[in-house]
Amino acid sequence: MTSPLRHLLGIEELSARDIVQFLDTSEVFFDVSRRRVRKVPTLRGKTVINLFYEASTRTRTSFEVAGKRLSADVINLSVSASSVSKGESLLDTVKNLEAMHPDVIVVRHASSGAAHFIARHTRAAVVNAGDGTHEHPTQALLDAFTIRRAKGRLADLVVTIAGDIAHSRVARSNAILLRRLGAQVRFCAPRTLMPVGVETYGVEVFDDLGRAVEGADVVMMLRIQRERLTEALIPSTREYARTFGLNARILERAKPDAIVMHPGPMNRGVEIDSDVADSPRSVILDQVEAGVAVRMGVLYLLAAEAGQSPLS
Ligand code: CP
Repeated sequence: MTSPLRHLLGIEELSARDIVQFLDTSEVFFDVSRRRVRKVPTLRGKTVINLFYEASTRTRTSFEVAGKRLSADVINLSVSASSVSKGESLLDTVKNLEAMHPDVIVVRHASSGAAHFIARHTRAAVVNAGDGTHEHPTQALLDAFTIRRAKGRLADLVVTIAGDIAHSRVARSNAILLRRLGAQVRFCAPRTLMPVGVETYGVEVFDDLGRAVEGADVVMMLRIQRERLTEALIPSTREYARTFGLNARILERAKPDAIVMHPGPMNRGVEIDSDVADSPRSVILDQVEAGVAVRMGVLYLLAAEAGQSPLS
């Protein structure tokens, strides 16, 4: 069954039922990626344009892999090699892409609201691949998918999200999704890296990593987003690593079977030590594998013909 949703712009717009549909559909595609022949004809004849105005390794690559495994035609528009570098506006860029009749536009942009703006100016389905500090919905879906596979459920889990929360669209999308599916969410950051209005998020707030990790089922670390810092918000990287970096000693305070997550890119030795990132408790590369399955699920649900089955 395809989705009644036209776009995927944020987790905020999704009901618990929508989220579960994305997760369950992605399970079907997870198996496809582990087969010898990792391709299905589902989106043959459909066109997916990846429009990335910000750097990306995991999201851009996995949308490309996902589209190709679904047999869609995938076009990656490199902004530095496009007419954006000659001053073309976002609206003109979208109007020109629209004239080529794409089925899906996947967009990453430094401005919060960019994906919503594009959705107002195209007939294509728009997928938000990260807009400013606002939302990164497919990251939250793949994180939930990874947690559900590791723990068997999301309800009643304690999930600690620690790091530069103020600038993190990942933290925001995860907090909304995890709470919507019944998890208990904790945020941990220095006060300078906590978002304004954090008390409205419905999360527990900590400024001590050890206490935030106490009894957690999931510990998700985030990097400092230097590209979004407009002023010095931490005393030094070394001081930050000493007080807010996850190491084996602090992880001891989580549940014995707690898993460790990171959306990437990691700054090893800053927010996370290598011996934790590479330990058996780390599911960081499982998150990357889940990313392909979840993005296949999203493309299928938004772009397949009504009534079309996922694998044919
Ligand atoms: N997690 C994530 O968004 O990674 P990229 O910036 O590499 O896409």
